[in-house]
Amino acid sequence: MKKTDKYAAIHYHDYLQLDAILSSQIPRSGLYENAAHEETLFIIIHQVYELWFKQILHEVGSVMNMFDKDHVDEKNIGIAVARIERVNEIMKLLIQQIQVLETMTPLDFLEFRNFLFPASGFQSFQFRKLEILLGLKIQQRFSYQSRPYYHEFDAKQQEEIQSMEQAKSLFDQIVQWLERTPFLQFDHFHFDVAYREAILKMIEAEKQAIIDSDYLDDDAKQARLVMIGVNGEYFGTVLDPIKHQERLDAGEIRISYKSMMAAILIHLYRDAPILQLPYRLLESITTMDELFTTWRYRHAQMVMRMLGKKTGTGGSSGFDYLMETVKRHQIFKDFQHVSTLLIPRSYLPVLPEKLQQELGFYYSFKS
Ligand code: HEM
Repeated sequence: MKKTDKYAAIHYHDYLQLDAILSSQIPRSGLYENAAHEETLFIIIHQVYELWFKQILHEVGSVMNMFDKDHVDEKNIGIAVARIERVNEIMKLLIQQIQVLETMTPLDFLEFRNFLFPASGFQSFQFRKLEILLGLKIQQRFSYQSRPYYHEFDAKQQEEIQSMEQAKSLFDQIVQWLERTPFLQFDHFHFDVAYREAILKMIEAEKQAIIDSDYLDDDAKQARLVMIGVNGEYFGTVLDPIKHQERLDAGEIRISYKSMMAAILIHLYRDAPILQLPYRLLESITTMDELFTTWRYRHAQMVMRMLGKKTGTGGSSGFDYLMETVKRHQIFKDFQHVSTLLIPRSYLPVLPEKLQQELGFYYSFKS
């Protein structure tokens, strides 16, 4: 049988549905007066964004399918990392694209801005889906209007958004996956207890170094000892499971105590072969979150350049609203805060030999 018998031949143009895609740039200014030259760029940029949002949703959705179980297949972690790293490359493109749009001047924008009222990126359904899938909760959102943000959409889309809000997000899935990390307790070894002791040892050594210093006078020593006291108190609060739970209940943080300890363990012992991929996964997710925030910030800067302090077509205060979202809509910041709790390798708790074997770096430890 010839290949052509099995698969119908197709032309490039049809495969990519170019008729539909290339006939979808219709400047609204042209419907009322002479089409504004810059409006084509404005439409194409937004369409390209929506296409990339579709691809990102495809990647994030597939990663979420892998993590939607009580047990995540080790093989899948490598695939998940590769897909999130792909999202990150796309995000870098999306950030760069803003420069292309900035070749349009604010005056050029005013040629057609009124024709698109009240349309706004605020109504991007795919962008909202992405935020929700990653883990942005409605309680966390900065709102500029009395009604919820999803009222921008039709009834079916509103329903979809509300059910997505109830479902597990990637944030929830990663927290639960971290909670299942097997190495936090090993026979009689409790990582959190050993880690607290290591921190206390580090703080004591730092205090002693100040007291013994020939360089500092008494006042300077006193000031530094106070600082270390504050630090010690900070570590004490953050590493206390009860205080952690209080902060969780108050909504100050979103990551559970157990998953935070697991994230610390993964960061500290990331050289262990078994923790390499989990480490890369956490890194890729943190990078993704950072890139989203960078996009928000770059978009806000562009809005300032195009509109100054004018209000948006979607009815917000424009720049000020967008800057609030930069601050408040970051999703994985608890994962970044783990860095505050890291200590130098020289103070790390010594792991029981059996645990070293489990982690797969027993021989490198021994040599
Ligand atoms: C001249 C170019 C642009 C201007 C002046 C602009 C302006 C604004 C303003 C003022 C808002 C706040 C909501 C409102 O009141 O309308 C907004 C939101 C938004 N814009 Fe743009 N925008 C531009 C280009 C883009 C592009 C190219 C995209 C890509 C898809 C985009 C996506 C969004 C999204 C997703 C939001 C919602 C942000 C949020 O609520 O967190 N915008 N835009």
